[in-house]
Amino acid sequence: MSAPEVVILRELLDHEDGVVSGAALARKLGMSRVAVWMHMEKLRGQGFAFDAVRSRGYRLVRPPAALHPLLIQAHLQPRGAPPDLICLPEVDSTNDEAERQLAAGRPTPFVVLARRQTQGRGRLGRVWHSEDNGNLYASFVFRPHLAPGRMQTFTLWMGANLCELVANFCRLEPGIKWPNDLYFGGRKLGGMLTEARVDADQIRDLVFGLGLNVNSAPDALPPELARQATSLAACAGRPLELNRFTAAIIGRVLAAYDKFIDGSYRQTFADLWNRFDVLRGQPVTLVEGGRRFSGVAGGIDDEGSLLIRGENGRPQRFQAGEVTLAKS
Ligand code: BTN
Repeated sequence: MSAPEVVILRELLDHEDGVVSGAALARKLGMSRVAVWMHMEKLRGQGFAFDAVRSRGYRLVRPPAALHPLLIQAHLQPRGAPPDLICLPEVDSTNDEAERQLAAGRPTPFVVLARRQTQGRGRLGRVWHSEDNGNLYASFVFRPHLAPGRMQTFTLWMGANLCELVANFCRLEPGIKWPNDLYFGGRKLGGMLTEARVDADQIRDLVFGLGLNVNSAPDALPPELARQATSLAACAGRPLELNRFTAAIIGRVLAAYDKFIDGSYRQTFADLWNRFDVLRGQPVTLVEGGRRFSGVAGGIDDEGSLLIRGENGRPQRFQAGEVTLAKS
């Protein structure tokens, strides 16, 4: 059951010319027009602006540009109960907040979002720069009760889904670089950090962290990153509606998780991966621990291991490692 503010926002967003009468809102919510007005005042207090269109009703004129949980809920396509969202102005790391919430017994699934992280983490202990600049910092939290072996393709599956969503939403063709980077035009758009807690041979807690450069200006990045990174806004040539985009991401991640758990993801995984794989056919070098291996990338196997064909022509499988394109 959605909050009245969410219902009001959804009505205003869904209506063709954006104008909805107070009477229609009152009918929809089963409350008086005065009660509707009070909920709209509450929304005004949170940065929403409405126009009163003479003898026709209300129009939403200025939705907040920054992440806003009510606006995200309003943009989500209703599919059963609304997802449990925690939306914070600032946090150390959304993955860390997810773990604290899990430890406090919060039921899953839930999603942690923040406008800014003070200790955003990347893979291999790297820092993930997380300014309040219109980018997305999100953690999706599940209790899958699956054997750890089943999780090897999880991040890859999620990455391929995110690429397809970006392709549809932004009319761009992004790519995924095994195992966890999202790319566009040779520059990094985002990264995924999946962390799991294993209990008696089962994954008990699973935190899927996503950092995506949505609306940041590339020159706002530290100089060492500016050459390697980009944002969706820079690639598309226009800013994205962050709350609408975030809602689309949440819907897609939750649906992709369900398909992963029931196994139906296998029907589409290989095609989706092959569409977005930026390494396939490219000369690459993989470093893992002290080991270094060069060859031509040849996609992934059923377990999500990267295949690299070395000089002897035989493919070798790698479950982990850092890959660079040989020409970069
Ligand atoms: C990488 O490319 O190394 C992975 C980056 C993952 C960053 C995201 S931002 C949201 C979540 N919280 C974190 O501290 N990290 C992940």
